[in-house]
Amino acid sequence: MSWRCPYNRCEGNGFVYDEEKNIATDCDCRSQMIAQNRASRLRARIPKKYAHVDFATPPVTDMPPAVVRVVKRYVEQLNERLNAGRGLWFEGPQGTGKTTLAMLVSKHALATGRSTAIYSVPRILSEMRNTFDDDAEFGSMELIDRLTEVELLQLDDLGAERTSPWVLEQLYSVINARYEAERSILVTTNLGREALIEQVGARTVSRLTEMCDVIPLYGEDRRLTASMGGLAPGGAAPQPSVSWNSPAPGANLETPRWDTPAAPEQRAVTPAGPPSWWDRRDPWPPVAEDALQGSTRRTPSDT
Ligand SMILES: Nc1ncnc2c1ncn2[C@@H]1O[C@H](COP(=O)(O)OP(=O)(O)OP(=O)(O)O)[C@@H](O)[C@H]1O
Ligand SMILES: [Mg+2]
Ligand SMILES: [Zn+2]
Repeated sequence: MSWRCPYNRCEGNGFVYDEEKNIATDCDCRSQMIAQNRASRLRARIPKKYAHVDFATPPVTDMPPAVVRVVKRYVEQLNERLNAGRGLWFEGPQGTGKTTLAMLVSKHALATGRSTAIYSVPRILSEMRNTFDDDAEFGSMELIDRLTEVELLQLDDLGAERTSPWVLEQLYSVINARYEAERSILVTTNLGREALIEQVGARTVSRLTEMCDVIPLYGEDRRLTASMGGLAPGGAAPQPSVSWNSPAPGANLETPRWDTPAAPEQRAVTPAGPPSWWDRRDPWPPVAEDALQGSTRRTPSDT
């Protein structure tokens, strides 16, 4: 988005260049520019439910250490990762902490002044539809431009949208524009790769694959176990029927794993598929020993 320097010192990019010394320094307008960026019409608020997420407190401290480590490293290297357009792709059944971890990253990005937009995919699509209203503040191209320019875009619940050719085109436009501009994306999805390709199309998934490191989150639905805990006699939380089994056997948390073909069972997954399915796709993806260090892995037969 275009910013006009209120001091007429910079060209609207927040930097003043000293050509003699060949250095750039922050313009006085820079913090305002960033604030304006953040406050611009995109959604950049962490919802109340996730406002206090932190590496040091539950539920993050209850999550698989190998997964948390990868997210933590991303946050520690946030500037480099955002500058390089690298993102994260959280995949797994419902209630396993995907949005929590994505919000944690967005929260850090916002705190360090990186412009960030946070949307569920159904919501972003509804805003795109709104751009066709007569009283729309800006058109669909401008919305896509804004969604492209923001330094970090969190797209929650990819694959949960009702699909149509228009929807596919919009998702492709946003993701492809960010791909070309090398800008980071955080994705959360309930779908495995094959199901996601069916839902949003191969071109879109292919770009996300290149842009993001995949973080698989498997296990029981923590919303469900929390509510069952409240009902159990004596308040004791019942043992989940499916083991907390993340990272998946073979999850190589350091590199995208899509160079291996999907297991046949993966194609059967649906957004509402039971978590037990995720434990059955052993032994895919291939295991990286160090990714599993510090996390105990159980199989369904252990429970
Ligand atoms: N490992 C965990 N331990 C304890 N609570 C957890 C854990 N993972 C998630 N939760 C809790 O479960 C709830 C759902 O978490 P979250 O919204 O991050 O799930 P999600 O994976 O994004 O689910 P969905 O796919 O349905 O969007 C939250 O209340 C969160 O605090
Ligand atoms: Mg979620
Ligand atoms: Zn300026």
